[in-house]
Amino acid sequence: MEQHDAVEVIIAKRDGGRLSDSQIDWVIDAYTRGEVAEEQMSALAMAILLNGMDRGEIARWTDAMIASGERMDFSSLSRPTVDKHSTGGVGDKITLPLAPLVAACGVAVPQLSGRGLGHTGGTLDKLESIPGWRASLSNEEMLAQLESVGAVVCAAGAGLAPADKKLYALRDVTGTVEAIPLIASSIMSKKIAEGTGSLVLDVKVGTGAFMKDLARARELAETMVALGTDAGLPTVALLTDMSTPLGLAAGNALEVAESVDVLAGGGPSDVVELTLALAGEMLLGAGVDDVDPADRLADGSAMDAWRAMIRAQGGDPEAALPVARESHVVAAPTSGVLTRLDAMAVGLAAWRLGAGRARKEDPVQAGAGVVWHARPGDTVTAGQPLLTLHSDDPDRFDRAVATLDGGFDIAAPDTAYSPSSLVLDRID
Ligand code: URA
Repeated sequence: MEQHDAVEVIIAKRDGGRLSDSQIDWVIDAYTRGEVAEEQMSALAMAILLNGMDRGEIARWTDAMIASGERMDFSSLSRPTVDKHSTGGVGDKITLPLAPLVAACGVAVPQLSGRGLGHTGGTLDKLESIPGWRASLSNEEMLAQLESVGAVVCAAGAGLAPADKKLYALRDVTGTVEAIPLIASSIMSKKIAEGTGSLVLDVKVGTGAFMKDLARARELAETMVALGTDAGLPTVALLTDMSTPLGLAAGNALEVAESVDVLAGGGPSDVVELTLALAGEMLLGAGVDDVDPADRLADGSAMDAWRAMIRAQGGDPEAALPVARESHVVAAPTSGVLTRLDAMAVGLAAWRLGAGRARKEDPVQAGAGVVWHARPGDTVTAGQPLLTLHSDDPDRFDRAVATLDGGFDIAAPDTAYSPSSLVLDRID
């Protein structure tokens, strides 16, 4: 590999230049080995955030991150594989009902997931609220479970895209998360290295998402779809609304309970709608066109797959879920129509109640979070519970309530409300 100098690479991007293939290969490799220092990579990440990268640079950066670690191989499985990735939202528990639902339709779902950081929740934190469930599996255990159950949700092993592990942690503390080239390469390097047969992306748009407007979300989605397609990984993206939180609860055990409601044939209509929309795309990607996922929800086979998936990873699907020690009700201040419930305000409140972590090594509270009793469009009455806050630690309620101040609007009774679509666009 051709040798470069970190400062020369930083300056090239700082001055708006294009990085060569050889500079990109070297800087990712040297950073993974510890030869490029954290402060140098943070300067480069900021230069990329400010000056961008063209599609060729992003593709090379992604390849270099894949090459920093191992590639998995699911070709020995008897079923096709398909994965789903969300760019992160509030109350976004969709993976929980979706993975067993798609498995119940005959497709294997290898879902390597992460933990929450900041206001967005992490799938592994949610599942860890189930007594006994473990997130770490060896590659052999993962393959065996994919063959027998059809769905695995587990932590990515240390060997998969280690450059991204280091870089993601660095971006999180240097204000460089929201760069489209860095998000796209981070997500796609892991998905391509994982070896899934096809991929469905749920790109979130709105206050509770990394991408606040549709144009930027579309650019991110198009970049990721192009990266996947060019790497031989059939990829489609749905752009979905994240200005309102999904479902009726944000918080680890609270979201598991809501997911189980969906698997039992109930649950909030938006969670069901998005689960079925993504399941339809995943089945299309896997080439399965003779199964209706709604039937698999209705006939209980998705629930059977959920129980098998939880048991296979040591969890007890029948065990009672943890409940926070304390709760606090926020009442509706006036009567009228709830016209806005802000995803970011709810996500931050849940985080402050203990559902999320401020630093990677912090523990999370399984029972902490926010439940909302009305969704935009519903009529509320002054004094009735609008939100219930849950935490083991009552000292956290004041800050969470302050976070929710200004996080919702109640308009005069009989105000007309037209709901916005959940699925905003599809990119393939
Ligand atoms: N999820 C990822 O894996 N990486 C990002 O950069 C953003 C969301």
